Amino acid sequence: MPGTLHTVGMGPGDPELLTLKALRLLRAADVVAYFAKRGRAGHARTVAGEWPRAEAIELRFEYPFTTELAVDDPRYLAEMGAFYEACAARIADHLDAGRDVALLCEGDPFFYGSSMYLFDRLRHDYPHETVPGVTGMSGCWTAASMPITHGDDVLCVLPGTLDEDRLCARLQACDAAVIMKVGRNLPKIRRALRRAGCEERAMYVERGTQSGQRLLPVAGVADDAAPYFSMVLVPGRQRPR
Ligand SMILES: C[S@@+](CC[C@H](N)C(=O)[O-])C[C@H]1O[C@@H](n2cnc3c(N)ncnc32)[C@H](O)[C@@H]1O
Repeated sequence: MPGTLHTVGMGPGDPELLTLKALRLLRAADVVAYFAKRGRAGHARTVAGEWPRAEAIELRFEYPFTTELAVDDPRYLAEMGAFYEACAARIADHLDAGRDVALLCEGDPFFYGSSMYLFDRLRHDYPHETVPGVTGMSGCWTAASMPITHGDDVLCVLPGTLDEDRLCARLQACDAAVIMKVGRNLPKIRRALRRAGCEERAMYVERGTQSGQRLLPVAGVADDAAPYFSMVLVPGRQRPR
């Protein structure tokens, strides 16, 4: 019998925001797999802390690059495709040997998670179960004490990698917004917020719920100071009832 692929949402960073189901699977897994940036521990692996069994096999998947190449560069697609293919093959070897694999993912796996690219490659050949996680945006608006939507407010989730015009058009068309993948996109995001008339109420959250958490108005963040692991929140109309 092959093992089962458990794709496990690890939440936004605070280990106490792990679900009971995630914890149970993490403690039982034969193999624990996770992504990490070169030279870093990996967000999802950091959340897992001491929970994996001492004898669990760890598979560390180190990204060949992160923000160095633009997503629309043909090399990005080709090289990331080859990387995900190799990661899926390493997991498949363990599943074939009957070992259960917990593939850790920051936040929720099916919400912009890298683990989806492995899930897509393995889902048809192996038993699988996915555990939802508290999303980064949920952790961030809670950390900022910012109720994000009331009543019939419309929320729009935007990757900061969109161009300025598209960001601005989307911001103008919604009441509340979450802008992910900030990093070096911050100056462009700020211009779009200004043009859409929401810069003043926009809040910047860096490493939400984690030890290095920073919360401040977008206006107070230097252009080159935002890491990739940050987001911008625009609250909705906040109409009282
Ligand atoms: C590839 S997406 C992963 C999203 C994740 N699967 C989730 O459910 O939140 C990475 C982006 O998520 C955002 N993010 C996730 N967790 C965050 C946190 N704790 N603090 C700030 N940003 C976070 C950042 O904008 C980052 O660029």
